Amino acid sequence: MTVSDQHAPALEVSRLTAGYGDSTVLSGVSLALEPGRIAVLLGRNGVGKSTLVRCLAGLLPVRSGTVSMLGQDVTNRPTHAMADLGFGVLPQGKRMFPSLTVGENLDLGYLTRRRRAKRGGDPPLAWSPERVLDLFPVFADRMRTRAGSLSGGEQQMLALARAMVGGPRVLVLDEPSEALSPARVSELGRLLRGLRDQGMPILLVEQNVSFACDLADVVHVMDKGRIVAERRGAQITDDRELIRDLLSI
Ligand SMILES: Nc1ncnc2c1ncn2[C@@H]1O[C@H](COP(=O)(O)OP(=O)(O)OP(=O)(O)O)[C@@H](O)[C@H]1O
Ligand SMILES: [Mg+2]
Repeated sequence: MTVSDQHAPALEVSRLTAGYGDSTVLSGVSLALEPGRIAVLLGRNGVGKSTLVRCLAGLLPVRSGTVSMLGQDVTNRPTHAMADLGFGVLPQGKRMFPSLTVGENLDLGYLTRRRRAKRGGDPPLAWSPERVLDLFPVFADRMRTRAGSLSGGEQQMLALARAMVGGPRVLVLDEPSEALSPARVSELGRLLRGLRDQGMPILLVEQNVSFACDLADVVHVMDKGRIVAERRGAQITDDRELIRDLLSI
């Protein structure tokens, strides 16, 4: 049985250090994602954003520091255990299986959901698979379409739909707006705001300042593996230029 605290931060990263081989990429990163909020992590290419996502997802060892999810210490939990606890992730880049159909891609989400349910993971009822599909009407009559033949934007939406079908309690999205048309970015924004308004905590990793800041309840700016600025609420609008400057140095 999974014990989780609904009032605890959805995610809490404390003084996390990680890297590859002899190199240290993250040097003492701390940030928190509160329940029902969107926390944004902004940073230029190569500062360590995806490295943090890999640590959270159990794909890269945390060398020091801690990660907790919904009040539980999950530092260095393997990927499948994180999924069982309700960690939903949209990795950067290639995100779905192009040779499978839309329906088969979504079935992978159902598998995660069923496994979680079997292990007492208790996927949130609010996000039944039917409910998730209501959010993505574009797929309703395209279940047999090969995913690889969808447009880039639709493929990204499919990956997000698959993550949602898994019934996550926490969503981490690594640059979901990358390579999307402006219209798709707006659509994604509406979708994420809707998820947040229904209680889904989202850690949004981005380089698109306008898109991310418009959605954010809190913004963390990363540079060279450290958090160098944090802004919340009205400060995000007031300090938008400062945030841009930090990203363009
Ligand atoms: N598998 C790896 N092995 C060795 N070094 C890596 C590996 N993956 C990333 N790095 C290095 O770690 C640093 C941080 O990379 P990371 O992918 O976390 O950056 P990022 O902030 O996500 O950048 P982007 O915005 O381009 O996705 C970079 O210097 C990168 O070259
Ligand atoms: Mg990255």
